[in-house]
Amino acid sequence: MKQVHIATFGCQMNERDSQTMARVMNGCDYRITERMEQADLILINTCSIRRKAEEKTYSLLGRLKDLKNRNPGLVIGVGGCVAQQEGPRLLERVPHLDLVFGTRMIHQLPALIEEVRSGKNRLSRIEMVQGELYVRDLLMAPGCSPGLKASVTIMQGCNNYCAYCVVPYVRGPEESRGSREILAEVEALAAEGVQEILLLGQNVNSYGLNREGELTFAGLLDLLEKVPGLERIRFTTSHPKDLSPELMGCFGRIANLCEHIHLPVQAGSNSVLERMNRGYTRQDYLKKIDQLKARCPGIAITSDFIVGFPSETEADFEETMDLVKAVQFDDIFSFKYSNRPQTPASNFPDQVAEEEKGRRLMELQTYQKKVTLSKHQTLVGTIQQVWVEGNSKKSPQDRMGRTRTNKIVNFPGPPDLLGKTVPVRIEKAYINSLKGVVV
Ligand code: 5AD
Ligand code: SF4
Repeated sequence: MKQVHIATFGCQMNERDSQTMARVMNGCDYRITERMEQADLILINTCSIRRKAEEKTYSLLGRLKDLKNRNPGLVIGVGGCVAQQEGPRLLERVPHLDLVFGTRMIHQLPALIEEVRSGKNRLSRIEMVQGELYVRDLLMAPGCSPGLKASVTIMQGCNNYCAYCVVPYVRGPEESRGSREILAEVEALAAEGVQEILLLGQNVNSYGLNREGELTFAGLLDLLEKVPGLERIRFTTSHPKDLSPELMGCFGRIANLCEHIHLPVQAGSNSVLERMNRGYTRQDYLKKIDQLKARCPGIAITSDFIVGFPSETEADFEETMDLVKAVQFDDIFSFKYSNRPQTPASNFPDQVAEEEKGRRLMELQTYQKKVTLSKHQTLVGTIQQVWVEGNSKKSPQDRMGRTRTNKIVNFPGPPDLLGKTVPVRIEKAYINSLKGVVV
């Protein structure tokens, strides 16, 4: 049996796609290996959301040159967003690369690899195929358990064209998958023992809107609530402009929907938001946050930020800081703006100096760290319902689980707690996790 190694960069969407690659290759007699040196086939699933992410691909490819020299039978393929963006240019740039396959070509991998192997041709295939092309059967190979948690893609692509973002170009137009098919996949996973589902899409809030007669995202959540054995439902990612009252009303009403929303705001200044083409103002955003907190007290809210977008002034950035202070997010991801090919913002004048971006990022992150820690500290002494999903990373003799608000809790306990929900008294708060004891 041949062996395939899959290296994944980037987001949860890519991780899910890598599982599909694994499943597809498994179907044609490839076994997954964690060790690159043993592989007959190496697939790199790439990310191009920021320049730094893209550079990781080139540095891994550089390191693979020796391996390919030593083992000329090795086939190396690059998929994902960098593949889609660069296409045949990647083959020119990297002479030891055999195959480039786009974000919507995963299902064709076996045929492409066969073509590379038999004809010894180097190939680039990046057609932006439309229509549903998901691998319909289960995530796992026959005889393998999918585990306790699984991600289910409910839509692909994006139509929002935020001025900085490469996603609409590399992932194509938005397409929702049929709700019946999603239900069938979730039911099958739950029947195999999956207790937590993460619903994935670039903008799950607009799920179904581009599909005649389809349920809305809130309707989909209602449908999934009743799947037997499904303890927890999470979703990511949301767009503030499409966050409907109907969806807000799901929190606290749908029993297995976790009280957490990731709602990227990106910036706090209206002029920056407008140039970003985000489709909402800071007032719209703050209003939705108030509504969420009113409907579901205790809901955890996280967000994404970009600092140093072209023409962002110090006053604009202060508005971002104001917004962060007003909302008191549970956590944020924040990035320096990075120019991406094809995007409108890469041609905007007044690019902000790298040093200034760094200063703004530091200020934002320093503030948020204090908020995150103090939010964790308010939980000390409380009892939290923790669903146990594995072992503690730092001390594997301890168990690790999460609250419904997505906070990581480590605590001592027997291995058979796995997959159970246990009450844990929180005793210590750290920036990235909590520590406690079962009561
Ligand atoms: N530069 C910096 N950050 C970006 N993001 C998307 N595109 C860029 C870019 N060009 C960030 C946004 C998005 C997250 C996934 O990545 O904050 O929400
Ligand atoms: Fe990119 Fe905007 Fe689409 Fe998110 S909503 S993937 S930021 S274009």
